[in-house]
This record gives sequence, structure tokens and C-alpha cells, in this order.
Amino acid sequence: MQSMNDTDLGTPRRSSRQNVTLEVDGHQVTVPQGSSVMLAAATLGNHIPSLCSTDTLEAFGSCRLCLVEIEGRRGFPASCTTPAEEGMKIRTQSDRLAHLRRGVMELYISDHPLDCLTCPANGHCELQDMAGAVGLREVRYGYEGANHLDAPIDASNPYFTFDPSKCIVCSRCVRACEETQGTFALTIDGRGFNSQVSPGQMDSFMDSECVSCGACVQACPTATLMENSIYEMGQPDRVVETTCAYCGVGCSFNVELKGNEVVRMVPNKNGHANHGHSCIKGRFAFGYTTHPDRITSPMIRGSIDEPWREVSWDEGIGHVASEFRRIQDKFGKGAIGGIASSRCTNEETFLVQKLVRAAFGNNNVDTCARVCHSPTGYGLKTTLGTSAGTQAFDSVLEADVIMVIGANPTDGHPVFASQMKRRIREGAGLIVVDPRKIDLVRTPHVKADFHLALQPGTNVAILNSLAHVAVTEGLADDAFANARCDPNEYSEWKEFISQDKYSPESVAVTSGVPSETIRQAARLYATGKNSAIYYGLGVTEHSQGSTAVIAMANLAMATGNFGREGVGVSPLRGQNNVQGSCDMGSFPHELPGYRHLSDAAARQRFEEDWSVHLDPEPGLRIPNMFDAALDGSFRGMYIQGEDFVQSDPNTQHIESAMRAMECVVVQDLFLNETARFAHIFLPGSTFLEKDGTFTNAERRIQLVRKAMPPVAGMADWEITAAISNAMGYPMNYTHPSEIMDEIARLTPTFAGVSFEKIDRLGSVQWPCNASEPDGTPTMHVGQFVRGKGHFVLTEYVATDERTTRRFPLILTTGRILTQYNVGAQTRRTENVSWHHEDVLEIHPHDAEQRGVRNGGRVSLTSRAGSVVLTAQITDRMQPGVVYTTFHYPATGTNVVTTENSDWATSCPEYKVTAVEVQPVSSLSDWQRRNREFTEHQEALFDAREREPVAERG
Ligand code: SF4
Ligand code: SF4
Ligand code: SF4
Ligand code: FES
Repeated sequence: MQSMNDTDLGTPRRSSRQNVTLEVDGHQVTVPQGSSVMLAAATLGNHIPSLCSTDTLEAFGSCRLCLVEIEGRRGFPASCTTPAEEGMKIRTQSDRLAHLRRGVMELYISDHPLDCLTCPANGHCELQDMAGAVGLREVRYGYEGANHLDAPIDASNPYFTFDPSKCIVCSRCVRACEETQGTFALTIDGRGFNSQVSPGQMDSFMDSECVSCGACVQACPTATLMENSIYEMGQPDRVVETTCAYCGVGCSFNVELKGNEVVRMVPNKNGHANHGHSCIKGRFAFGYTTHPDRITSPMIRGSIDEPWREVSWDEGIGHVASEFRRIQDKFGKGAIGGIASSRCTNEETFLVQKLVRAAFGNNNVDTCARVCHSPTGYGLKTTLGTSAGTQAFDSVLEADVIMVIGANPTDGHPVFASQMKRRIREGAGLIVVDPRKIDLVRTPHVKADFHLALQPGTNVAILNSLAHVAVTEGLADDAFANARCDPNEYSEWKEFISQDKYSPESVAVTSGVPSETIRQAARLYATGKNSAIYYGLGVTEHSQGSTAVIAMANLAMATGNFGREGVGVSPLRGQNNVQGSCDMGSFPHELPGYRHLSDAAARQRFEEDWSVHLDPEPGLRIPNMFDAALDGSFRGMYIQGEDFVQSDPNTQHIESAMRAMECVVVQDLFLNETARFAHIFLPGSTFLEKDGTFTNAERRIQLVRKAMPPVAGMADWEITAAISNAMGYPMNYTHPSEIMDEIARLTPTFAGVSFEKIDRLGSVQWPCNASEPDGTPTMHVGQFVRGKGHFVLTEYVATDERTTRRFPLILTTGRILTQYNVGAQTRRTENVSWHHEDVLEIHPHDAEQRGVRNGGRVSLTSRAGSVVLTAQITDRMQPGVVYTTFHYPATGTNVVTTENSDWATSCPEYKVTAVEVQPVSSLSDWQRRNREFTEHQEALFDAREREPVAERG
């Protein structure tokens, strides 16, 4: 079913240097070679009747409705599968064609329930449209014969329904699942009249391989596959275009609403990051936005053991300002700080750091990127000169070899994974470097050439070894490296990397990866015409996270893989705006645009614009804030949209720090784990309730458009501005576009960015300035941003986190498809049907040794703490390594992770924790205490003093 805004050209657009000119119904039209006759006609606004074709899928030619006449040719070819040719003369309308089309429609309608008036697709059904378009007035065959009208409905999926009685077997759904999503969950079972769409081997959708991306629902021309929300609410009446607020892919969506209620989210065909595709989270998991758990009134309390009291916005904001002023007067300017959110907009994160620097007068600002991609910023800035990925997502379609390191794109970045899988199906080589057998290692029609199942913590050794093979086997691109990088550094690096300790034979011992696998993977990467690296938190969240990022950059520089499409080093960023929150100066040592505070000229520029004096000394990072809270020098914190009590490592340490503070202000959608330690709660707004921009993993800035008013009355940027005003530093913006104008004014890489331009172009990839007015899809073309590429020696140093007899296993953590980060949003949607608890994946051998049974409860214990969760025995894991997620607060996964961190950025080493696993039957001590504390906090919330509705400001 098309989105309300879409025009369907019938078959996909083609790009070709050569055009062909033809005549359709007497009108000339020129289209790129390879275009279909149907598309040529559609270009003239002539939409030939069709059912089985759509411009998002390759034509299939099964419905025979799109027949045309071609001068000089016999018969009636299907316009969807016939390529347009130079000089062709096409007729799309004639008596004969009309007769044939009516005949086709008669057959369809004779096996279709005639319940149009009560059908959820009524008025939005292509079958209905086509019956009208071909002038169908009668159906001669009767409805008594064999038909499919009693076919049972499959309502197993919580988000959409499959009603096969309405199916016309056009196979658009099957092709969408194959071509767009790449899951191959659907087939056409049976032949001829008995043909029917089937998930798997006649499974239900929920029991099949289906990942609920919804591509089939979108492709279906009838009501056979239909969103349940349309059944429940009817068809929408307005559309707002916006950007997904979940992961760093940044899918563009049309929010379809009825009044202020979202009916459905339809991926935008013109979205530059997603091209009309989406995953389950963005398309279906929006129920949290109206969940009854949303807090809709500001609240304050004197201590965390007192009930909350609802207050007006004026009182709430005023209380924040007076508390922060009180603390600063008593304990000094540096006793408070702020945390910016990677889920909020660029404009909102910009305001948080401005609030801290200009109104608090210090640089105690940080963001959750500290715990995920801060090593990316450090490593790529050091080697290449800019702290961001080098490519656009579409670049992967030009890659000949793809290396995925420490990332699980089919779960973490699903829409990009579909694009990547398409390229692999077309023949690109694939190397997966991951301790776990992630889906990409083997999934339908995709198989990794090499899976380097390394021991967690040995990334740098493996990356050095890949480079070792490239250099010692003469596969490096010396000409590129000598021309584009410092030749002396390159030569020194070659000598370093050629040492025997980085040979595959030596590294095999450290990493557990067979030497021949390393060698062959290195050859594949180094000899690919275009080789691209994609990586995730499995690279950065290590004690050598920054070193590994540098090692990847070294490898790509040495093999000439920068500066064009199909190559590069690209971080797959976790949260929707983690790139943006870094760009906006959310780190304590950097001003927006990654300019160090010690840069006097940059500082001066901000001082003049903001009329303040800026402290030239970097402020506290998040872990330092916790330490300072415990030593009593840090007493107040403004936290916008971040839940580090659940997401950051060593929970018990953080809890102690939170308890030690005098004024914790949490601004969020829900009373999350961090808010249990708060003294002031300010209700935040979802992405549907505000204007602004997000920047995705490819540096693409896209608009977030307000679809409905904020449920609590204020957008997050308005709250930050109000706090600043209350603290005496004026912030008077009337719209987020004015904040972006300020960002552009003060940030050279954003100089050409404005809401007007993003709206006009659809999106803009920074740098966007006078020399690149429309943005920069590929970085480092011709030369690196820093001038010469900088080779840095990347000595492998084993982590201090060692296995012992007491803790013989390594725990590594990650995420899964249906849940997102701390789960605050996805846990409040039907996504819990797929994943309702965190489970511990363990190899059968390790399970057997410990008497662990599948589905049994086990304790997971490290030097930091212990939790209990359910075991899942799987050979996805290698022996010696266990895996879990951290989506559920009751599990407390981060009670177990330690405070070890990256040497350069303090990014925690989530991916390597020495643990032991044992069967148990009861909760851990922490879980018991946490349950009691949660119940206590819920009681304090339930006992809150309510603000009369009329008094809410
Ligand atoms: S379910 Fe829809 S898309 Fe799939 S074959 Fe049937 S009518 Fe076509
Ligand atoms: S929802 Fe996605 S994965 Fe599931 S059958 Fe449809 S296209 Fe395939
Ligand atoms: S891939 Fe990411 S951005 Fe796209 S719909 Fe899914 S969660 Fe949203
Ligand atoms: S649209 Fe061309 S055959 Fe169906």
C-alpha cells in the first residue's frame, strides 16, 4: 500500500549515461536506457494499469494488466518488463487492450471477497483502482466456483494481518522480502490456481524467518497484508515527513496521522538513507510515544526518599535554577554539569553544551557517545583529520569487498544491512570479524567468505595482522600511501607492522583465529578493487578502542581505500543522533565542530557571539563526574535524555555516585532508572513533538518535523532555554531553525546548513560550506582533511581484564533487532513479543560443563558484581565466550561490566568482562535490592502530590 504522498512510476528508475527517445500515445519522451515502457509512459503522466509492478521492485510480469501495443511488433507485450527502445511507438489505449485488461480483472475479481465497503483498504486499494481504471462493469464467471475466500487469516504478528482471501498472488510481497529486505521469508507455495503466499514452510508469520520489517505490507496492492493500526483506526488523513528516532541509519518516514494520532509510519521512498525501506522499530514501534507511562508534568522532591510533587513549569524550572545557583555558590562553579542526549536533536544538544559553557560557566558537559563511539572521534580525527565516517551508505553498492568488524548490522542497523546484503548477493566479497556467529556469517543468499571469530579484546592484533599480510606480501598500495600520506611515517609504519609478532601465525595464538583465515582474509581485502570497512561498538568499546580505529584507518590508507565510492572506514553509529551530539560540541574538551577548547581563535568566536568568557580548561567526562560526585566536589547534574544508571558500566558505582549528589535533574519521557535518583523531573518530548534535525552515521543532516504538540507542553529545546533564562543567561529562540542558524554561523563545517536548504535538498551531508554548498557524500577525495594521512603505530596491548580460574569465560554485550538501547521506548511497544528479557547466549560445551540447561536460570558473575538471567544454549557463540544484551533494567547487565576503559577516551570496555556462569534459582543480591528500590520509587511516584491541571504552566 503506497504512502499518502507517493506517486508510483511502476518500475524502478534507471540511471544510464545513454538515453532513448520513444513515442507513447503520440507524445515523445526521453528516458535513461534500461527504463521500461511503463516508466516512460509514467514520465508523461500516463499510468498504465498494473497490479504486479511497483517502482520499488524489479518488474515481474505476472498480472498481464499492463499490456500495450508496439508498432511493428506482434502481440501485446507487458509494458513493465519491456525495455524502452529508441524510436519505439507505443499505444497504451485501444479497444483490444481495454478488452484484454477487463478480462484479466474479471478473473481477479471472481476470486476476491466483494467486501470493499468494510475492507480496511477501501479507497486505497490498487485492485479497486484498477477495476475502475479498466472500466470493469460485470464479472461473467460467477463466485460459486473454486476460490480462496475461506482461506484462514494469520494474525500472529502484532503489527500486521495476513488475510489470504484478498490475495491476488502478484508476488510483490515475496519480491519485497527478497529484494528490499533480503530475508527471503516468503514464497509462493503451490502452482497455478493453488498458488498462495506462504511465510516459510506454511508457517505463521511469527514462526517464520520474518523480521517484521513491513516491506511486504508496504508492497501489497490489496488489503491482504495490512497494518493492524489501519484496521483499528481507519485510513489517515494527513502526513508529516520526518526522520526515525531509533538508530543511526536515519530512515526518512512519512508519519500518517488522523488528527494528532499516528496511524502508521511509512518509509519515505525519497529518503536518502533508506530509499523507502525501514525496520520493525522505525515502522511499527511508535506506541511508546502515547504510552500511559509518559510523564506529563514537571515534578520535584527534596530527597530521593520523598514522594514527588507535581509543579508548574515555572516552578520546576525556577527550582532547577535556584538549586544549581545554590550549589555553585557553596561548592564552586565546577560543582555542576550537564549531559546531552544522542536521542535529542542537534539543536537541543547544542543548547545543552551552550547552557553548560555559557550559563554554568564551566565545561562539564558530556554525552553518551562517551560510552560508544568516542574512540571513533579520536581515531579518525588523528589519522584522517575528521571525526566521522568517510562514506554515504549508498557507497556500499560500489564495494567489491566488505569487511564488517565488531558490528551486527542485521540487528543494529537493519536497513543498511539490507543494502549491504544486496551488494553481497551481487557478488561482493564479505569478511566478518566478530567473536559471535552473527547473521551475516550465513543468512539466505549471503555467506561470508571468511569469519574471523576472534577472542574478544584482540581486534588490534587482528587488524595489525591483516595489515602485516598486505605489506609483507606486496599487496599494499605504495603509490597511494606515499602520495596521500606522510612517506616517512608510512615507511616507519611498514617496518612496525612487518614485525613477526604481527604475522598471522603469531596472531593466531593470541586471537584464536587460524593463521590461514587471517592471511586469506587479508588478501581478499587488500586485492579488492574497492574494499570498505564497516565497524561498530565491537571495535570501540575496548581498552584499545581508539587504537583499533587507528589500525583500521592505517590498513585502509596502506591499501588505497579512501577518497571514492565503495571504500572507506565507516562507523555504524548506534543512536539516531550520536553523530550529531558529537558534532555539536557535547564533549568537555571540544566546541561544536570538534574544535579544541585550547584553540583561542575558536573560543573567541564563541565568546563574541555568546557575550561570555569561556573557560579554556576541559571539563569533566561522565566517569570523572561520578568520581567527583563520590569525593563531594560535584553536586548537581542536568541530564537530558540519558539513562546511564542502566546503560553505563559498573552500575553499583554509578548508583553510589547518584545518591551522593544534591540536585539531579532528569529530563526524559519516562521515569527511567536514572530518574529514580532524581530530585527534579522535567517531562521531555518525543521526535514527533518537535522540530529540529538529526545527523545520521553518514553525516547526513535531516529534518525532524513536529507532527503533534508536546504532550507535556514543552519541547526539549524550550526546556533547556528556559533553564538558561532562569539562571540569568538569555536564550531567546522562537524556532529551532534559529539555533541551526547559530550553529552554521559558528561552525565552519556547518556554514552552509540551514533548515531551508535541508528542506529543499531532502538532506545535507556535512561538511557543507562555501566550497561544498550541497554537502559532502564522500570525504577525503583528492586529499585527507588533515592534509597528509597520518600513520600511527598501533602496538597491541592485551587488556587487563584477564580470565582466571575464578572467572574463566569472557562476556561480551550487544543489542538485538527488536529492542533499542536501554529499551525505554521499545519495551513499551509490541516489540516485547519478540524479546521480553535479556538472555545469556552460551556455547553448548560451556553449558554442558556447568550443568546449564537451555532456558534455565544462571548467575553471571564478574569482579564487579553478579546478576541472574535465562540461559540460551547456541552455537552462535564460540566456547569460552558468552553474550547478552542490556535492554531490561531488571536484569542489570551492567552490574557485571567493569570500569576498564579506552586509554584515550575513557570509553568503557563493555565488550570484555571475565565472568563465571552457574545454574541458580534465585535473584542476585543486587537484583533483589534493585527490585525493592524500584518498588519504593514506584510507591513514591504513586503517592505524588498532583498539580491541579489548570495550574500547569
Ligand atoms: S499478499 Fe499482497 S503482495 Fe503478496 S501476493 Fe498477495 S496481493 Fe500480492
Ligand atoms: S515483514 Fe519483512 S521480513 Fe517479514 S515477510 Fe515481510 S518483507 Fe519479509
Ligand atoms: S534502520 Fe534504524 S533508522 Fe531505519 S527504521 Fe530501523 S531503527 Fe529507524
Ligand atoms: S504490471 Fe506488468 S505484468 Fe503486472
